[in-house]
Amino acid sequence: MSLQAFSDEYLPKAIIDRENEQDAIASYLKDIMLMKTSKVLYIHGSPGVGKSTVVRAVLSQFEDSNENSVVAHLSCTSLTPYLCLQEIHSKVCGQLSKRLTSQEIVMEITRRLLLKKYVLIVALDNFDKMQDVEQLLWSFHEIMQKVPRFGLILVSTSKFELMDMVGERLYSRLRPEVIEFKPYSANRLFEIMKSRILEAYGKPIAEDSALEKIAEFAEVNGGSARHALKILLDSIEEAQRLELSKVNSQVVEKVLEQEKKNLLLSELHELKEEAPREYEVLKVIAELSVKEENIYTGLVEEAVKEKGLMVCRRSLEYYLSDLERRGFLKLNSIRINKGHSTKIELIIPRESIS
Ligand SMILES: Nc1ncnc2c1ncn2[C@@H]1O[C@H](COP(=O)(O)OP(=O)(O)OP(=O)(O)O)[C@@H](O)[C@H]1O
Ligand SMILES: [Mg+2]
Repeated sequence: MSLQAFSDEYLPKAIIDRENEQDAIASYLKDIMLMKTSKVLYIHGSPGVGKSTVVRAVLSQFEDSNENSVVAHLSCTSLTPYLCLQEIHSKVCGQLSKRLTSQEIVMEITRRLLLKKYVLIVALDNFDKMQDVEQLLWSFHEIMQKVPRFGLILVSTSKFELMDMVGERLYSRLRPEVIEFKPYSANRLFEIMKSRILEAYGKPIAEDSALEKIAEFAEVNGGSARHALKILLDSIEEAQRLELSKVNSQVVEKVLEQEKKNLLLSELHELKEEAPREYEVLKVIAELSVKEENIYTGLVEEAVKEKGLMVCRRSLEYYLSDLERRGFLKLNSIRINKGHSTKIELIIPRESIS
């Protein structure tokens, strides 16, 4: 039970904070029930900030208190539009007896909803990860046109606006209400961890000062509850390994050291995938730092050329400022005689770049 309570699938008994978001979703559902309208709700926010958990909790309350409702909460990462329709069909009409086309499934769902006067709520979790999702959204739009009470909730971590993702034409048909989940503050992360420990172990097994450390770290690194809970679990395991009765600050510090390394490695990996040329420039700087005490832009430019990389001065300057923004190096503008140059300081361990 204790390990399971730290997984994403676990539905916490106590949801900390997020009252406004819960109220907004509940009132969206109430509108559908009372006003007999079909509407779309778009929920977005960075990873691990409680979108799925809150949607799941509100929907399960809704389902329990509305007999005539059919609720489908679907995780889209492993679904295709067809599988999605099939799943909804089986909830609304029962299992498919023969293979139908998407269009036929849509028609059967629509017919059944009208006949039974069901309220259908579909939540597509991480819908932006599904291939050809637009096609599915058009199908839902078709159902929405014919059925009085259909709610479509779209959940995503995307930084892009929904309109950019689905195009103006579809967007203007869906006209969604929007709820944004903001990252958690350290205080909220502290409360989430504290309550999760009680749910999992029935007693406090971490000192408050230790939880505060984790909360502050997770706040600075994106305010994700998933991240905080992962570090907490690592700390619990480390404390158990050391046969301590409670997680204390020292244990957390040790775990955070490792976590920082992991984060750095994954940021470097991301850079390598997203911007391989920029990564090569960083690698050149790391190599230069072995023998040179002071590294200037000119020196990097020469070394880059020597390696046969085609990077012009303007691109190089862009890469350097982006590498600074990513926190890998620091640029200092310095005066040399009458001109000026940029001194480059690598601020991550050079061994981490390979
Ligand atoms: N308000 C909260 N109270 C209690 N636990 C929470 C809360 N918010 C998030 N959590 C916990 O944090 C973890 C991540 O939450 P969740 O999966 O809902 O995030 P998400 O926003 O859907 O992330 P993603 O965008 O990656 O899907 C889960 O273990 C969840 O139980
Ligand atoms: Mg989620």
